[in-house]
Amino acid sequence: MVHLAHQSISDSVSYSQFENIAFLTIQNPPVNGLGDTVREGLYSGLERAQNDSEIQAIVICGEGKMFSGGADIRQFNTPKANAKPMLRDVIKKISQSVKPVIAAIHGAALGGGLELALGCHYRIASSDAKLGLPEVNLGLLPGGGGTQRLPRLIGVEPAARMIVNAAMINSQKTLELGLIDQVVSIDILDAAIDFAKKRLVQGDQKHPVIEHLPLSPSEAQIETIRNELNPKARNARAQRAALDCVAHAGTGDFEQGLDYERARFEELVKGIESHSLRHIFFAEKQALKVKDLTDEVKAFSITTVGVIGAGTMGTGIAMAYANAGIPVTLFEVNQTALDRGLATIRKNYEATGAKGKISPEEIERRIASISSSTNLASIAQADLVIEAVFEDMEVKKKLFLELDHICKSGAILASNTSRLDVNEIASVTSRPQDVIGLHFFSPANVMRLLEVVRGSKTSLEVIATCMSMAQKIGKTPVLVGVCEGFVGNRMLTPYWREAWFLLEEGATPNQIDHALTDFGMAMGPLRMADLAGLDINWVTRKRLAPTRRPDLRYSKVADRICEAGRFGQKTGAGFYKYSPGSRLPEPDPVVDEMIKECALEAGITRRSITDAEIVERCMLALINEACWILQEGIAQRSSDVDVVYVNGYGFPAWRGGPLFYAETLGWKNVYEKLLKLRVAQGDHWAISPYLIAKAEGIASAST
Ligand SMILES: NC(=O)c1ccc[n+]([C@@H]2O[C@H](COP(=O)([O-])OP(=O)(O)OC[C@H]3O[C@@H](n4cnc5c(N)ncnc54)[C@H](O)[C@@H]3O)[C@@H](O)[C@H]2O)c1
Repeated sequence: MVHLAHQSISDSVSYSQFENIAFLTIQNPPVNGLGDTVREGLYSGLERAQNDSEIQAIVICGEGKMFSGGADIRQFNTPKANAKPMLRDVIKKISQSVKPVIAAIHGAALGGGLELALGCHYRIASSDAKLGLPEVNLGLLPGGGGTQRLPRLIGVEPAARMIVNAAMINSQKTLELGLIDQVVSIDILDAAIDFAKKRLVQGDQKHPVIEHLPLSPSEAQIETIRNELNPKARNARAQRAALDCVAHAGTGDFEQGLDYERARFEELVKGIESHSLRHIFFAEKQALKVKDLTDEVKAFSITTVGVIGAGTMGTGIAMAYANAGIPVTLFEVNQTALDRGLATIRKNYEATGAKGKISPEEIERRIASISSSTNLASIAQADLVIEAVFEDMEVKKKLFLELDHICKSGAILASNTSRLDVNEIASVTSRPQDVIGLHFFSPANVMRLLEVVRGSKTSLEVIATCMSMAQKIGKTPVLVGVCEGFVGNRMLTPYWREAWFLLEEGATPNQIDHALTDFGMAMGPLRMADLAGLDINWVTRKRLAPTRRPDLRYSKVADRICEAGRFGQKTGAGFYKYSPGSRLPEPDPVVDEMIKECALEAGITRRSITDAEIVERCMLALINEACWILQEGIAQRSSDVDVVYVNGYGFPAWRGGPLFYAETLGWKNVYEKLLKLRVAQGDHWAISPYLIAKAEGIASAST
């Protein structure tokens, strides 16, 4: 392996020489982002190598785990992002070089990293490298020439698909596409030296630069791809703009194409969608950090899992672990319930198999990793036991008492409860430090969100283990505290309450759901309630009835619907009616009558309600409750709430989550609207002190 003697030429690029080859090494951990000092270093390194008569070839490479992960996202919307030299200037310098410039890619070349490589005369990549232009994931497009060079190099259609799908492609495939010149299996620097020497010996100084390759995208090619785009995708605007740029390539002069691409990039980077998507990108990373965890606290590994209850959640949770290659034992009270659960698991896997997403062998392997039993002792040796039985405190307490006796010492005992008090559940065991809530979302094998519910006595080791385990099974964990409904479901309570009030005041279920899906929610609140099952919350409302303040307005609409035996989709009727076998909600005049009766009993004169009022009141209900949650320390930080709502409740990612949305509305504005509602409607709009402080601009920046 060659050893290079590095000399710094900027804060984050070093220059070194091996025989007649110059190496420019990007040293900007963690991902070698192309910030201002990297661009400056590359530019001056290129200049130095070109002016040095000893040098005959130049290699650009990255230190650490990859070549380059792309632009430095944290510099976006700051002067550093547009500081000269821009990536375009660096690439221009490469194209003017009479000495061949080789991109030596290991790990990954993503976004601007790949655009830099596309600007080089040659590209070689190690066999495990991944290449891609994932900018649309952040609501952006490749703004460093990617939309102009890639189609010229590999053809319009593959390039357009790679860009709009943010595809990450392995090096072998990129070789087949003609994107790179060679896949190498030896050390990337040694391979770069061999490659450069061969080129020099052959007298083949360099490839023609990509911008000189001909290109003529056809309208039909672009149109086909445009029609495949989902107009409701979180990044729809960026995908359309990126496709426009590819279409533009070849219509005029190359420099003009670059100008067009840059203008479209600037438009997106300033827009709210990209701001929101970048916020969520960082929020998900931030959510993994537990504020009071120190490096001394070590997570332990989970190699076997026991799941109790083979209903809706238990089966999904078992699949989530089987999918990650972790063996599971599934326990049920009787064989009939167990067989039903196992049949559901097989049916779900076969449905995925039928879509070609998983091979028949893999299905059998995953199913074989789930063993089953009606004997609780079968889970005694599991490192982690997750309970997913009926949502009933007495049932759960009885079970945890048994688990305390049966499970091995040090096992984590987790509850998948949606709303119950994890501390009360833990209190029946002799080891509350090992008890935690793991609130999976339905379907648990698909949904990414996992609320990790920290009890008052849960140990830091157990928290650390669950946060790390969640990532191993592909989940996005968010640490939350104990309260009624934790973060996500607790916020649903005032959200639904507002929807019911709006029904009484004059809206219809259809109008409310449409107003909120037009806003961007994946599903309206009433349709979602029908899907989740209305009976569960009815039980909760009855349980909480003694603690309800009698002076506050209360809508009887949801109770009235449940009293009629309408529990949502599963009973064929809820806020809507459903034809047998159909999930399509149909407006039901019976429900309209129930709503009118409730309004009459409450003395409400119905009026016409605008969609804007629906959205405003439902969103303000979410925002205010989220602020109470932060006030009480139930969530660690405001961005965690956004992660919960985007990943678990269908909140539009391109609006960044309820609290980022509040930020865009302006906290003062939010506060004033809430104040008006409180005066008009009463104390259920009590405003959280956290929100008031935000409006006054004094809330802590860290939350
Ligand atoms: N359904 C959801 O969308 C959802 C989402 C998140 C969390 N949860 C929570 O997950 C838990 C399970 O909900 P579900 O929707 O899967 O319910 P479910 O009714 O579909 O399944 C519960 C299963 O538990 C079994 N069971 C009951 N008592 C048992 C015991 N003592 N030992 C073993 N098995 C027992 C039942 O036979 C049944 O198969 C509840 O606490 C619920 O609040 C549900």
